[in-house]
Amino acid sequence: MIGVLVSGEGTNLQALLDAELPVVAVASSRSGAPALGRAERARIETEIFPLDRYASREERDGDLAEWLASYGVELVVLAGFMQLLRAPFLERFAGRILNTHPALLPSFPGLHPVEEALEHGVRFTGATVHFVDLGIDSGPIVLQEPVAVESGDTVETLHARIKGAEHRLLPEACRLFLAGRLRVPPEGRRVTVL
Ligand code: GRF
Repeated sequence: MIGVLVSGEGTNLQALLDAELPVVAVASSRSGAPALGRAERARIETEIFPLDRYASREERDGDLAEWLASYGVELVVLAGFMQLLRAPFLERFAGRILNTHPALLPSFPGLHPVEEALEHGVRFTGATVHFVDLGIDSGPIVLQEPVAVESGDTVETLHARIKGAEHRLLPEACRLFLAGRLRVPPEGRRVTVL
């Protein structure tokens, strides 16, 4: 069973729903995220967990973890979730959190990967699905797909093509995880796909 965390449009969530993956719960960091409407239309349980409702980030993350666990979530997917999760959450779901990032990590981690790829003048960027660790977009890489930068690309046009790649990679990574086909060595970072 999959729990998905969102903050925005939810096109990656939609890719998981279209792939008929077992998404049972969708949590948003903010009210009004269009992603919530997608979950509701698919009759999936939703909840919002805004930071300003809590005394601390740890408290919010604790509530969020409890809520996901109450639905039997075994895999947490960050699908455009724009906030960092703290150690207690990461420990509770250790080795069971996937994130999608719109760049070829380890290039351009952080909040503005598409802008930075354009500014840097790279010829190729892309999409990465990786396990989440304590760092920023730094966990073991599961799947990647390159996307060519075209002359005349804007942040919008490039991000749209990268999202196309994310929509292919994220469902595939979830399928591999749920089938028990991803192995992460305790030491080192190279994920093996069985
Ligand atoms: C995706 O490109 C994701 O990698 C990034 O924000 C975007 C979210 O898109 N962090 P959506 O909400 O899934 O449409």
